[in-house]
Amino acid sequence: MPAAATSASIENSLAWLADARARTDRLFGVVRDAHLYDRPIPERHRIVFYVGHLEAFDWNLLREAVHVRAPWRPDFDRLFAFGIDPVGGGLPTDGPEDWPAIEEVRRYDAEIREALDAGLGSAMRAASAAERQSLDRRLNVAIEHRLMHEETLCYMFHRLPYERKNRWEQAATPIPLRAMRPEMLEIPAGVARMGLRRDGGARFGWDNEFEAHEVNVPAFRMDRFMVTNGEFLGFVETGGYARPEFWTEEDWRWISAAGVRHPAFWNHKQGEWHWRGMFEEISLPLDWPVYVSHAEAAAYARWVRKSLPSEAQWQRAAYGESAADERAFPWGNGPASAQRGNFDFGRFDPAPVHAWPESRGAFGVEGMIGNGWEWTSSRFAPFPGFEPFSFYPGYSANFFDGKHFTMKGGSPRTALSMLRPSFRNWFQAYYPYVYAGFRCVSA
Ligand code: AVJ
Ligand code: FE
Repeated sequence: MPAAATSASIENSLAWLADARARTDRLFGVVRDAHLYDRPIPERHRIVFYVGHLEAFDWNLLREAVHVRAPWRPDFDRLFAFGIDPVGGGLPTDGPEDWPAIEEVRRYDAEIREALDAGLGSAMRAASAAERQSLDRRLNVAIEHRLMHEETLCYMFHRLPYERKNRWEQAATPIPLRAMRPEMLEIPAGVARMGLRRDGGARFGWDNEFEAHEVNVPAFRMDRFMVTNGEFLGFVETGGYARPEFWTEEDWRWISAAGVRHPAFWNHKQGEWHWRGMFEEISLPLDWPVYVSHAEAAAYARWVRKSLPSEAQWQRAAYGESAADERAFPWGNGPASAQRGNFDFGRFDPAPVHAWPESRGAFGVEGMIGNGWEWTSSRFAPFPGFEPFSFYPGYSANFFDGKHFTMKGGSPRTALSMLRPSFRNWFQAYYPYVYAGFRCVSA
C-alpha cells in the first residue's frame, strides 16, 4: 500500500477519535456542575463515573500500544474500568463522597488524552500489517464504545430534572408530513443474512457480529411503521397495565413490584398525557414512536394479537431485496442522510414514525433505521462461531444470560458507524429508560 494512503487513514482514525471525544465532552456540558455526582438511573453509576470511564477504557485498551512506562493512576484505571449491568441484585449504595473530586478525574482524563495523542500516530506508523490490524480494531472499539456511551448517557441525562441541565438548542431539520395510515405489509419468504464474515476484509464489527450465517425466514407480515404513542394510548386506556392476560408471569411481577403503569417517558398531568423530552415536556405527540421496555412492547403485541419480530425477521424486512439478496441499508446502497431517518445526533427526541418515506425498504417498511431502537423477540445470544475479543472478553459474553433481548435499528443518538446491518444492541427486558420502541409482526 502506498505510504500516503496509509498515513491518510491514520489521520482519519485519529480525527474520528477526536470527533467522538468532542461529542462526549459537549454532552457532559449538559449537566450542571453541582449535579455531576447525581445518579439519574438508580441501577447505574453516578455521572462522575462516566467522566472517568471513557478515558480509563481507552487507556486500558491502548496503553500498551503507546509504550507508556509505569501507569500513573492504576487506582483510577481500575475504579473507572467497567460500568455496571442493571440486571438483578440490589441497587448500588455508594454515596457521592465515595468518588474522587471532579477536578482530579478531569486531570486524569487530560493526561490520558495527551499520552494517547502523543503516541498513537507513531505507533500506527511503526506497526507491522498484523499489529496495525490489531491496533485499528482496538481504536474502533474505543471510538464506538465512546459513541455508545454518548447514547446511554443521553438516557441518563434524559431523566435529570430540567433545572439541573443546561439547555442545548438543536436546530433540527423540519419534517414534511404526509397522511399516515398504519398497515401491515407482506414480507415474502427468503434468506436473512446475519452477521459479518471474519474473512470479509477490514470491516470492523464487535465480537457478537461474527460469524456470518444465513437464516431462512418464512413469509410473514410486519407493521409498515413503528407503533406510535397514539396507538399505545389505546393499550393504556383499555387498562392494559392492569390486565395480567397481556403479560408473562415474570413481566407481570415486574410491573406490579415496580409500580409501572405507563411508559417511563410519559407523564400524566392535569388529566392529560405529556411527553418528557430531553429538554422540555410537551403534550404527548401521538405520531411519535412509543419508547417502552421489552416487557411493555410484548404486552402491547399480545393485546393486538400480534408478536414482536425475531431478529431474523427484522433483518429480512429491513435489508431484504429479493429472495436471497440484501442491501447495505433498507433504502438501497445510498448513504445514510437526514432524509432517511432520525439518527447520528441530529435530534435528541424522536419524530413522527411516517416522516421518512425515502427510507422505505424493498418490501415497503419505513423508518427501520433511527428514531428509536426496535425490540425483537430474540434473546441476545451468540451467533454460531462466536469468539470473544481477547482484550475485552466480557463485552457481549457477560450478557448471554437469557435476560437480554436484541434490539436493531438505531435511535436519534446512534452514530452513523453503528447503522451497519450487522450491529446488534441489547438491553434487559425491564429497562424502561432506553430509546427503544417496536413494531409488530403476524403470520
Ligand atoms: C451495547 C449499549 C448494551 O451500554 O450496556 C458500554 C455498551 N458496554 N460499555 C451498554 C457498553 C460497555 C452496552 N450496550
Ligand atoms: Fe462502558
